Amino acid sequence: MKTVQETYVLSNGVRMPKAGFGRWQIPNGDEAYTSVTLALKHGYRHIDTAAAYRNEESVGKAIRDSKIPRDEIFVTTKLQSHIKTYDEALEAFEKSLKELEMDYVDLFIIHAPWPWSEMGKDCSEGNVLAYKALEKIYKDGKAKAIGVSNFSVKDLENILAHTEIVPHVNQISFFIGNNQEEVHTFCKKHNILIEAYSPLAIGYALSNQVIIDMAKKYDKTPAQICIRYCIDKGTAPLPKSTHESRIIENAQLDFEIHKEDLAVLDAIKDDPRRWNS
Ligand code: A2P
Repeated sequence: MKTVQETYVLSNGVRMPKAGFGRWQIPNGDEAYTSVTLALKHGYRHIDTAAAYRNEESVGKAIRDSKIPRDEIFVTTKLQSHIKTYDEALEAFEKSLKELEMDYVDLFIIHAPWPWSEMGKDCSEGNVLAYKALEKIYKDGKAKAIGVSNFSVKDLENILAHTEIVPHVNQISFFIGNNQEEVHTFCKKHNILIEAYSPLAIGYALSNQVIIDMAKKYDKTPAQICIRYCIDKGTAPLPKSTHESRIIENAQLDFEIHKEDLAVLDAIKDDPRRWNS
């Protein structure tokens, strides 16, 4: 239980619990409400959602109903990826606050550098405009930290060149076999914390034989090895599950992977989607 509540200190001094509970693809309503309730019950104090997940309302309700003081829970939400203007970004943020029924969030980030329907499109100008809205929200105290998600080095360089506040985080897909060395090195240099979404490679990593063997060696499960790997690499994993037993399992992270074993895991370079075939 200890590690899941330990914190990283972001570049602005804000503390963020090292492991968060992800919400992607969990529909609004009972499923989202119950899984957040269980995550909080089993020790998570960092909940990650997004306007695009359409479950902010249930997430907010589960947090309120937990009776855990609001300032003990780190809440992230995200600006939808197609919103690339200043005014629309401000408006979308207010809508998220309303859905969550909160007067601030701990972290607000741009969900992607391009609309999901136009992946790879150059939205450099729009990203700067949207990020400037995030800066205003931050300065107004409505988000304790701000950042981006799915940003490449080029996307980050654009933000750094044209805005004032260096993003506090970059949330990217990060798991054993996909440790994103280029963007990770860049982020470390600029003191941007990496948040690791899909730390289990959406489940595929759990059938990788090297990971299974490593789990046996540590008397842990493959999922715990995958999540702990992210922490030992200095990133904040955001595992997600809708099953209580797995939520409990994924919160038990009080061990460390030795340096030489991290190197073994670092050497895995397979595309996880091929591990099962
Ligand atoms: P479920 O919600 O049915 O538990 P990622 O976080 O990499 O995106 O992976 C999420 C996927 O991994 C989900 O399909 C989730 O399914 C599954 N999952 C989460 N935790 C575990 C676990 N401890 N063991 C096995 N599968 C898990």
